[in-house]
Amino acid sequence: MRRRSWGLICLASAVHLALADSAAVFNWPDPLLDSLDDTLYRQAFALVSLLATDCAPRDDTTVAAQWLRLAYHDTATHNSTTGTGGLDASIAFEFTRSQDVGLGMLESLQDFLGPQNEYVGMADIIAIGAVNAVAGCGGPVIPFRGGRIDATEAGPATVPEPQQDLDSHIASFKAQGFNETEMIALVACGHSLGGVRQVDFPLIVTEDVPNGIQTFASTVGFDNTIVHEYLNGTTENVLVVGSNITTRSDLRIFSSDGNATMQSENLHSLASPDTFNQVCADLIERMINTVPSTVTLTDPIEPFDFKVWNTILFPRSGSLAFLATLRIIHSDLNRTVTMFWKERTGTFCPEAGCSAPAFQVTSAGASSLANLKGVESFDLHSFNASIDLATSISHFWFEVDDNDGSAPFIVDNHGANFTIEQDVLLFDPQRSGLNLTTFEFTMVVGVKDAPTSTSVTGSSTIIDDNAVIPLPSTLNFTFTLDESHPPADGYTFYTSPISRLAFHSMICATVNGTAYSLWVPFTSATGL
Ligand code: HEM
Ligand SMILES: *[C@@H]1O[C@H](CO)[C@@H](O)[C@H](O)[C@H]1NC(C)=O
Ligand SMILES: *[C@@H]1O[C@H](CO)[C@@H](O)[C@H](O)[C@H]1NC(C)=O
Ligand SMILES: *[C@@H]1O[C@H](CO)[C@@H](O)[C@H](O)[C@H]1NC(C)=O
Ligand SMILES: *[C@@H]1O[C@H](CO)[C@@H](O)[C@H](O)[C@H]1NC(C)=O
Ligand SMILES: *[C@@H]1O[C@H](CO)[C@@H](O)[C@H](O)[C@H]1NC(C)=O
Ligand SMILES: *[C@@H]1O[C@H](CO)[C@@H](O)[C@H](O)[C@H]1NC(C)=O
Ligand SMILES: *[C@@H]1O[C@H](CO)[C@@H](O)[C@H](O)[C@H]1NC(C)=O
Ligand SMILES: *[C@@H]1O[C@H](CO)[C@@H](O)[C@H](O)[C@H]1NC(C)=O
Ligand SMILES: *[C@@H]1O[C@H](CO)[C@@H](O)[C@H](O)[C@H]1NC(C)=O
Ligand SMILES: *[C@@H]1O[C@H](CO)[C@@H](O)[C@H](O)[C@H]1NC(C)=O
Ligand SMILES: *[C@@H]1O[C@H](CO)[C@@H](O)[C@H](O)[C@H]1NC(C)=O
Repeated sequence: MRRRSWGLICLASAVHLALADSAAVFNWPDPLLDSLDDTLYRQAFALVSLLATDCAPRDDTTVAAQWLRLAYHDTATHNSTTGTGGLDASIAFEFTRSQDVGLGMLESLQDFLGPQNEYVGMADIIAIGAVNAVAGCGGPVIPFRGGRIDATEAGPATVPEPQQDLDSHIASFKAQGFNETEMIALVACGHSLGGVRQVDFPLIVTEDVPNGIQTFASTVGFDNTIVHEYLNGTTENVLVVGSNITTRSDLRIFSSDGNATMQSENLHSLASPDTFNQVCADLIERMINTVPSTVTLTDPIEPFDFKVWNTILFPRSGSLAFLATLRIIHSDLNRTVTMFWKERTGTFCPEAGCSAPAFQVTSAGASSLANLKGVESFDLHSFNASIDLATSISHFWFEVDDNDGSAPFIVDNHGANFTIEQDVLLFDPQRSGLNLTTFEFTMVVGVKDAPTSTSVTGSSTIIDDNAVIPLPSTLNFTFTLDESHPPADGYTFYTSPISRLAFHSMICATVNGTAYSLWVPFTSATGL
C-alpha cells in the first residue's frame, strides 16, 4: 500500500495492487492515476513534455539533456543498504551544491513545477521528464510508473564527480543499485545527450569551445554515437580525451572492463543501436524507479481505453446537475455513448436506470508520448444530466454503441460501477468564479442539510515559480458562510478566495460530526 505523506487528505485514497508488469488499471476515482495520465498523455496537460519535444535546444545544450542529468543527480542519493533516497525530488534542496553545478538544474525544476497536486508530487514529474527527454530525442519509450513521494530535506552528497577515481565510482553506482557493467552502460546512455559547460567546469573544458560547451558526442539526439566515437578514436568527450587526466572519468569507466561493454566486435555491446536502446531503456527505467524502500510504485501507466474524467455534481435550480466526461481513445468508429445512473435513496429511475445521451463529443489532442504509443487523439463524450434532487444519485455507468452492427457494451468501472461517494459536500462551479476585484478565484461549495455548526476548510497545493526551494507547498484556509448565495435546493453555500498560485484544492467539511472530503482539481475549477 502506498500512502501520500503530504497535503491534507481527509479520507483514504485509492490503493494500488502491484501486479507483475501488467499495465495499471484505472478504477475510478483514482486521483493519482487520473492526474498522471493527464500529464503523460493529454496534450493540454502535458506542457512539461512539450518543452523537450524534438530534442529542443536550450542553453547551448538540450532541455532533454538537462532533465536527464537532473533525474540522475536526484537518484544518486539512493543508498541500497539503508533503502533511503533515490528519485524523491530531494534535488530541490541540493541543486546549489557544487556537485550539482549548472543552471540546467534550477531551470529544469521550474519546468517541472505545475502538474503537482494533493496526490502527485515533484518526484513523479522529474521521472516523467526523464521519460520525455529520452523519447523526445528519438530514444526508446521508457515505461512510467507513478507514486513517488517527495523528500522534505536534502539527501547525502553522493553524486559522482569526474575527478574521483574508478573505485569511488564503482562504489557510488553499487550504492545506487548498479553493478560495474551497468555503470558503464548507464553513463554511456546518459552522456548520449548534452555535454560539459566551460563555465561550470573550467578545469575540464580547458580550451575555448563553440558556445562554451563540449558535447559528449557529435550528434544531438539520443543514440550510440558516443560509443562509436569513443571506439574509433574520434571522440571529443572531455571526460575521455580532456587535457586534464584526473577528470577523464568516462574513459576510466568505459574502459574498466577492457572495453567489453562498449566494443563493436561484441554483437551484444552498446555499439549495436538496438542493444544500446534496449539496455538504456532498461537502465534508465531502473534509474527512475530507484526510490526509497518505503515507496511502492504503481504498475506502468499506459493510456486508458476508457477514462471517466472531470465529474462535477452540484445543485442547479431545482435539480442536481451532474457533469461527466467519458474519454475514449480515438478510433474511426462513430460511437454513441449513453450514461445511466441510479438514485441514492427512494425510487425515481426506471429499473434499467435513468439515462442521458452525450450532449457533445469533442476531440482532445494527445501528447507526443501518447502519439509514440499509437494514440492519435481522444474523443471526449460529455454529459450534462439533470438528476432528481430528492432521490439524488448513487452510481453511474455507460453503454457504448459502436454503430457497426456489433452489440453495445457496458463501461462500468470493471464491474464495480462508478460510485458517487457522497452528495453532502459539493463544489459549485456556477456559484464559483473569478473575483473581478482581486482577480482571485472565489470558490463556492454547497453543504446539504447543513447545521450551523458546520465547518468547511480547504487546503491548496501552491505552485510558486519563485519559491526558493522549487517544490509545491500547501496553504490551508477556511470557508465562511456565503452571504451572496442564499441556501437553495437543500444546500447551504460556503465561500473562500483561492490563491492565484493554487490550482488544485482538497475541501473538507465536518457536518454533524461526520467528515466529508472533496477533491477539486484544476479541471473542475476552470471548467476545462
Ligand atoms: C561517474 C558518473 C558521472 C560523472 C562523473 C558525470 C559527470 C558529468 C559532468 C561533469 C557533466 C557536465 C555538466 C555541466 O557542464 O553542467 C555531465 C553532464 C551530463 N550528465 Fe553526467 N556524469 C556521470 C553519470 C551520468 C549518468 C549516470 C547520467 C544519466 C543516466 C548522466 C547524464 C548526464 C547528462 C544528460 C549530461 C548533460 C547535461 C547538459 O548538457 O546540460 N551522467 N556529467
Ligand atoms: C549507505 O548507508 C550505510 C549505512 O548507514 C553507510 O555505511 C554507507 O556509507 C552508505 N553508503 C553511501 C554510498 O553513502
Ligand atoms: C551486472 O548485472 C548484469 C545483469 O544482472 C549481468 O549480466 C552482469 O554480468 C553483471 N556485471 C557484473 C560486473 O557483475
Ligand atoms: C567514428 O564513428 C562516428 C559515429 O559512428 C562516425 O560518424 C565516424 O565516421 C567514425 N569515424 C571513423 C574515422 O571511423
Ligand atoms: C585537473 O582537475 C583537478 C580536479 O578538478 C584539479 O584539482 C587540477 O588542478 C586540474 N589540473 C589542471 C592542470 O588544471
Ligand atoms: C579502450 O578503448 C579506448 C578508446 O578506444 C582505448 O583508448 C583504450 O586503450 C581501450 N582499452 C582497452 C583495455 O582496450
Ligand atoms: C453517427 O451515428 C449517429 C447515430 O447513429 C448518426 O446520427 C450520425 O449521422 C453518424 N455520423 C456519422 C458521421 O456517420
Ligand atoms: C447543461 O444543461 C443545463 C440545463 O439543462 C443548461 O442550462 C446548460 O447550459 C447545459 N450546459 C452545457 C455545457 O451544455
Ligand atoms: C452496478 O449497478 C447496477 C445497476 O444499478 C446494479 O445492478 C449492480 O448490482 C451494480 N454492481 C455493483 C458491483 O455494485
Ligand atoms: C471580491 O473580493 C473582495 C475583496 O476581498 C471582497 O470584498 C468581495 O466580497 C469579493 N467578491 C466576491 C463576489 O466574492
Ligand atoms: C445534521 O443534523 C440535523 C439535525 O439532526 C439534520 O436535520 C441534518 O439532516 C443533518 N445533516 C447531515 C448532512 O447529516
Ligand atoms: C494544514 O493543515 C494540516 C491538517 O490540519 C496540517 O497538518 C498542516 O500542517 C497545515 N499546513 C499548513 C501549511 O498550515
